[in-house]
Amino acid sequence: MDMTDNTRVLVLVGSLRADSLNRKIAEAIRAQAPAGVTVDIADGLGELPFYNEDLDGDGAPEAVVRLRAQVAAADRLLVVTPEYNGTMPAVLNNAIDWASRPFGAGAIKDKPLAVVGTAVGQYGGQWAHEDTRKSARIAGAAVLDDIALSHAHAWGADPSAEVETVEKFLAVVADLASYQAESAAA
Ligand SMILES: Cc1cc2nc3c(=O)[nH]c(=O)nc-3n(C[C@H](O)[C@H](O)[C@H](O)COP(=O)(O)O)c2cc1C
Repeated sequence: MDMTDNTRVLVLVGSLRADSLNRKIAEAIRAQAPAGVTVDIADGLGELPFYNEDLDGDGAPEAVVRLRAQVAAADRLLVVTPEYNGTMPAVLNNAIDWASRPFGAGAIKDKPLAVVGTAVGQYGGQWAHEDTRKSARIAGAAVLDDIALSHAHAWGADPSAEVETVEKFLAVVADLASYQAESAAA
């Protein structure tokens, strides 16, 4: 693809709460996406049932079909997630499981994927981010380890209101997009 093409980045947010700071960051980067980049946020992760092979295959739940279609249509995946008890939230793990199937041919296969987010702990959710990379890699994604940001926020702070913090997340989006151009040119 050349530089005039639009790069579609699909964001998976690892928190379902209405006031999620990670969701607010995702919305900020969607609103301020770099030129040539469209950012969409996958809705409905909370409507996915827990992964169950009995539900999968023809007739999979509507939320699953929708997620797989969104992932398949994306050029890049960006996970924006907090950390829960030292790892990724279950809703995110579950979304990766659904996107990983059918085995060897899931929508996530070969998708360049980066993981970022904010958490209140001093390491900014780094364990969650590492575990997400590991799971996504095993699921078949092309995980970009060098594109990373584990932002630590203070209690009561709203990182989406901090211009410098949002700029750091926007730089991640730009890196994700330019990786695409470089790899296509290589
Ligand atoms: C069940 C639960 C477990 C948590 N565990 C961690 C943790 O292990 N490390 C951490 O940095 N923050 C942890 N937190 C705090 C989150 O970082 C903080 O609530 C964050 O703002 C949640 O993201 P959100 O604002 O996008 O919902 C936890 C929060 C919850 C609700």
